[in-house]
Amino acid sequence: MTDKLIIFDTTLRDGEQSPGASMTKEEKVRIAKSLEKMRVDVIEAGFPIASVGDFEAVQAVANSIKDSTVCGLARALDNDIDRAGEALKNANSARIHTFIATSPIHMQLKLRMEPDAVVEQAVRAVKRARQYTDNVEFSPEDAGRSELDFLCRILEAVIDAGATTLNIPDTVGYNVPEQFGGLIHNLIQRIPNSDKAIFSVHCHNDLGLAVANSLSAVMNGARQVECTINGLGERAGNASLEEIVMAVKTRKDIFPCETNIDTTQIVSTSRLVSGITGFAVQPNKAIVGANAFAHESGIHQDGVLKNRETYEIMKAEDVGWTANRMVLGKHSGRNAFKTRMKELGTVFDTDSELNEAFSRFKDLADKKHEIFDDDLQALVTVARQEATNEFTKLISVKVCAETGETPNANVTLLVNNEEKHGNSSGAGSVDATFKAIESIINSQTTLQLYSVNAITSGTDAQGEVTVRLEKAGRIVNGQGADIDIVVASAKAYVNALNKLFHSDDKAHPQLADV
Ligand code: KIV
Ligand code: ZN
Repeated sequence: MTDKLIIFDTTLRDGEQSPGASMTKEEKVRIAKSLEKMRVDVIEAGFPIASVGDFEAVQAVANSIKDSTVCGLARALDNDIDRAGEALKNANSARIHTFIATSPIHMQLKLRMEPDAVVEQAVRAVKRARQYTDNVEFSPEDAGRSELDFLCRILEAVIDAGATTLNIPDTVGYNVPEQFGGLIHNLIQRIPNSDKAIFSVHCHNDLGLAVANSLSAVMNGARQVECTINGLGERAGNASLEEIVMAVKTRKDIFPCETNIDTTQIVSTSRLVSGITGFAVQPNKAIVGANAFAHESGIHQDGVLKNRETYEIMKAEDVGWTANRMVLGKHSGRNAFKTRMKELGTVFDTDSELNEAFSRFKDLADKKHEIFDDDLQALVTVARQEATNEFTKLISVKVCAETGETPNANVTLLVNNEEKHGNSSGAGSVDATFKAIESIINSQTTLQLYSVNAITSGTDAQGEVTVRLEKAGRIVNGQGADIDIVVASAKAYVNALNKLFHSDDKAHPQLADV
């Protein structure tokens, strides 16, 4: 008998806590649909009390997802739980995830609460959450540094109060596999009513051990893993969904459980998340990195050609690498475009949105012979991001660059509906372009990251650029895509400026005051 391993995806919540990875409501719905298609069991859509935007995003995900359970995060506070319950009202299947810190350091220095009061608040929170749904998850935050006796006490109490999933977070990524697996084993053995709940784990990757710790927990009885696409998440990130799922699938001989995941959807979902957040996937990242299935050395190629199992433990097509087929070209019509976009999970709300996207597609098809799924995804991501550029828009960029000469850029922007021109020289074409934009905006920001990624292969591929800007502690990522990487860079810079000047202050669940 094989157990089921529940896959709980928190890309839209913990993933969004990565600096600059914040997503719009519409982007969250797009990602949620892709997760649903992948047959993720539970989608944590956000932290509804954090802001109006977060509340609406959780609500929108709850309204549009039918096959996965939709979950909202809430501190162990009445208002948080009521807000989560309200946001999830229309979900087909809803879960409230409530948490409170249990480690001595967090209770003393962050909460300033005695352990007895923490237990009381946790029990009250679970009971309140049960008024909205019978699917309630409780997390003792910083469990990885909490005392075993206290964990047993609080977890026994919340099970009695109605918690159906107990999630054990290694919040600061401090644990190592043997120890973390041992913790799960001890909890299951020692808590008298442990058979009434499912044990889950939520590991952070500060020591690069999030996946190893989660898998060790699975070996010791955990039957839910919380993870994110591409390992996105607070600081060094969370355990990566694709690595957990493929480890369990590939090593059936070791793991006594299986997931529901349709693994062929992994690569396209990974691409969607990296395109929307601007967090590029490193080429050597397991499963979803561009090199994950590339056999460079002659010996390996020879072996793979004779029999792929000599060097391959998984098939590239099993995780969706071959799915990125050439779909459309210059002569494809509006209907073909609309149909393919729908298959990729994008539905246009209005005719004018479809027309605008289709005209971008035609422009691209004029310049680029073969249009792949990834091109289409990027096209929609960028179009939707540009549509939210309220403060400033890019009208044109012209760059003169010649060997031995200093590059010079002329930029025209629309700023609050007024056309403005800027000019600057720079170390290179991109530097000159950014300086020309700054000569107009004078944003006084710091450029924290600039990255270029080719969306597909070939020299006519679109370049996908991410620009990360920081101002007074606020960090935003801007994205741009174009066949010309200088234009893509200008678009990304302008998009970042728009995000920076659009205030969307939201509370951080783990730092906000209780
Ligand atoms: O890392 C953590 O402890 C969390 C909790 C809210 C589960 O994200
Ligand atoms: Zn976390």
